[in-house]
Amino acid sequence: AGNQTFTMIKPTAFKKNYAGAILKMITEAGFQVKAMKLTRLTTEQAGAFYAVHKGKPFYQSLVDFMSSGPIVAIILEKENAVQDFRNFIGATNPENAAEGTVRKLYATSLQENAVHGSDSDENAIIEADFFFSKQERF
Ligand code: CMP
Repeated sequence: AGNQTFTMIKPTAFKKNYAGAILKMITEAGFQVKAMKLTRLTTEQAGAFYAVHKGKPFYQSLVDFMSSGPIVAIILEKENAVQDFRNFIGATNPENAAEGTVRKLYATSLQENAVHGSDSDENAIIEADFFFSKQERF
């Protein structure tokens, strides 16, 4: 039981072949996979997913990057899922990420920071609904 968060393993993980390692870290940290798919976002979909950042200087580059190759979209469940997952992945900017976190280990830049994690329970629901139907959840 517990509550849910949403994550994406970003396109770099496939180019650099560490998607499996990240997924292993996630499940070994006690996050239960409730839904998962490999998919590629169109630029329109990436723009909509990150609409909250529209107008920021990094928006267009982020949209281009996030639609540049496949991503893994995942719904995770754990007690205190949103905050625990944020602690687990580390700071958005890998330069500030703590030792042992996913971003410290696998991020290559602020943009290519290995994974996305929802920042609130409310956004976790919105983001999960963006990718998954009821039938795709277990
Ligand atoms: P993510 O958690 O996916 O949410 C928004 C993404 O924008 C973030 O990770 C980074 O990959 C990217 N990004 C690029 N520049 C910045 C910035 N200056 N501040 C925050 N996010 C940034």
